[in-house]
Amino acid sequence: MCKKCYVTTPIYYASGKIQIGNSYTTVACDVFARFNRQMNRKTFYLTGMDEHGQKIEEAANKAGLTPKAFVDKVASETKALWQTMNINYDYFIRTTDKNHEEVVANVFEKLLANDDIYLGTYSGNYCVSCETFFTKTQLGENDTCPDCGKPTKLVSEESYFLRLKKYADKLLAYINEHPDFIVPETRRNEVIAFIEAGLEDLCVSRTSFDWGIKVKSNPRHVIYVWIDALFNYLTALGYGSKNDDKYQEFWLNNDAVYHVVGKDILRFHAIYWPIMLMALDIPIRFKLYVHGWILTKDGKMSKSRGNAVYPMDMINRYGVDALRYYLTKELPLGNDGLFSYERFVERYNAELANDLGNLVSRVIAMVNKYCGGSATMGFVRTPYDDSLIEVATTSIKNTIFCFENFRLQDAVAETWQFVRRVNKYIDETAPWVLAKDEKAYNTLQTVMYNLVESLRVIAVLISPYLVDASKKILKALNIALDDVSFVNLAFGEHQSYPKVDKIDNLFNRLILEDELAYFAKKEETPLPKTDMISIDEFMKTKILVGKIISSKKHPDADKLLVSQVEIGNKVIQVVSGIAKYYDPATLIGKKVMVVTNLLPQKVRGILSEGMILCATDNDTLELIEIKDAKSGAVVK
Ligand code: MSP
Repeated sequence: MCKKCYVTTPIYYASGKIQIGNSYTTVACDVFARFNRQMNRKTFYLTGMDEHGQKIEEAANKAGLTPKAFVDKVASETKALWQTMNINYDYFIRTTDKNHEEVVANVFEKLLANDDIYLGTYSGNYCVSCETFFTKTQLGENDTCPDCGKPTKLVSEESYFLRLKKYADKLLAYINEHPDFIVPETRRNEVIAFIEAGLEDLCVSRTSFDWGIKVKSNPRHVIYVWIDALFNYLTALGYGSKNDDKYQEFWLNNDAVYHVVGKDILRFHAIYWPIMLMALDIPIRFKLYVHGWILTKDGKMSKSRGNAVYPMDMINRYGVDALRYYLTKELPLGNDGLFSYERFVERYNAELANDLGNLVSRVIAMVNKYCGGSATMGFVRTPYDDSLIEVATTSIKNTIFCFENFRLQDAVAETWQFVRRVNKYIDETAPWVLAKDEKAYNTLQTVMYNLVESLRVIAVLISPYLVDASKKILKALNIALDDVSFVNLAFGEHQSYPKVDKIDNLFNRLILEDELAYFAKKEETPLPKTDMISIDEFMKTKILVGKIISSKKHPDADKLLVSQVEIGNKVIQVVSGIAKYYDPATLIGKKVMVVTNLLPQKVRGILSEGMILCATDNDTLELIEIKDAKSGAVVK
């Protein structure tokens, strides 16, 4: 059995905010890493941020920040979120780390020197959002991106290319010889089909933007973000640097390297990444675990689709454990999972509040009430003990098996077999009846011990995902957290509980209607900082057609004209900053659009009662003229 584990999440684009969909991988890897640590394996858990590229440059511009200031801000916000979510990573890599940039630039030169990268011209479509090139046949309708549906840009520029074709057969052979290289099998078959359809060499540099790692020997070129990003898995371990101990330990001499990725980035990890490694003579050590997406009722959850649910909104209302539980429980490795508030509340009530929370409260209350807060393994047996212990043993074995194979959802289900069995054991043994019968004292002791020992076993089994609840249970049982391990976990291992402390409810029951009303209200509340306005706000603006009947220069301001505008049977005076573009005499008789319900205001001493609408791109300005509508007509 392996003694080490290296597990990685994809590195998240710094352009988007983490929503619960993409927080899934980080929670899942954290659960897996915690499990491996509990198996006494030396574990290295890596996550981080993908900080270069056009998309991030554009997002920074929009935010009015330099790209560096922008990614610094996003990285610190993301780290804070992971801390709140109990994500216990060993290293947080950023692709703007100097060491990473240096190694990636060197690797590129090495690939060039070996002729695995060559200079050519790229002509085709590029999706900035996915940072991906597409051939004509891959594009969707109207040249949209086949992955995200957004418009692609036609680019034609000098580019470097990575030879993929050269390695296609070798990669196919590798996949065939390693049946568990890509899990689940459906994803593996997809990759095989993609390679068999023929690989095109991959464009790996851009010249049309700046924010990225420059090609050392030709700094006009910026290295394609995916090469930069994929290498994080090695630079984080010190590959290519002076101190590469971790690379030796967790890559070269390790059988358990796991890249966990969503299905949308399968191709990059299953094709481009191993080919780069082959070209560099670096052994392929990793297995790919590919998960589906968290969907909402209107498709993949993502910020750009406007259906994103953010972790802090859930955590503030339900706590970290509840969110971690839902994510661990709802997404199977192969398929997509659904998120809805209804489902969240149902799961919370049924599994956390009822099955688990209630069980813990009842057992701890009973052991305090009937046995003075202590429990010790007894010598009497009830007719139900064998079955309880048998389910405990099976549940431990199966939970561990599922965790080992990254079947996190199944691991939870296996543990819940036992949680439910313990609840049933309470009904079967009815301790409140035993407590009334003096002769049943020893039986009651046994039952109490079995229940407390069950709580201990459960607390260990849930510890990778219900981190806080597990600690609270163990604290109440007065068990040192250092003693907690999956190795040799067995029912009956801990024989005496001298003091069981009282405990607050772990999960309070929720009322579905209240929760739905809460989120419906939250969704209706407009975002505080936005440049969008509601239709009602817009409709307040009264725009009418007006005819300019006279116009002259403002006596005290060169840029301004003062015009009399007839609107229906009324004439108003308007001061406008259009003197640079129009001779006042040419305006007479023009029909224009006028905002008529602005509060009157003096402009350089002359009253203005409205605003004439113009179109401008800052260099030119043009009145928006009306051809046929009469003065006084409504614009809407
Ligand atoms: N930067 C690249 C990864 C480079 S790894 C060398 C990237 N970043 S991402 O931020 O767009 O996505 C990161 C991960 O989040 C991907 O694995 C993606 O599948 C996952 N998810 C994004 N939305 C998701 C859901 N709605 N559901 C589940 N996972 C989703 O791609």
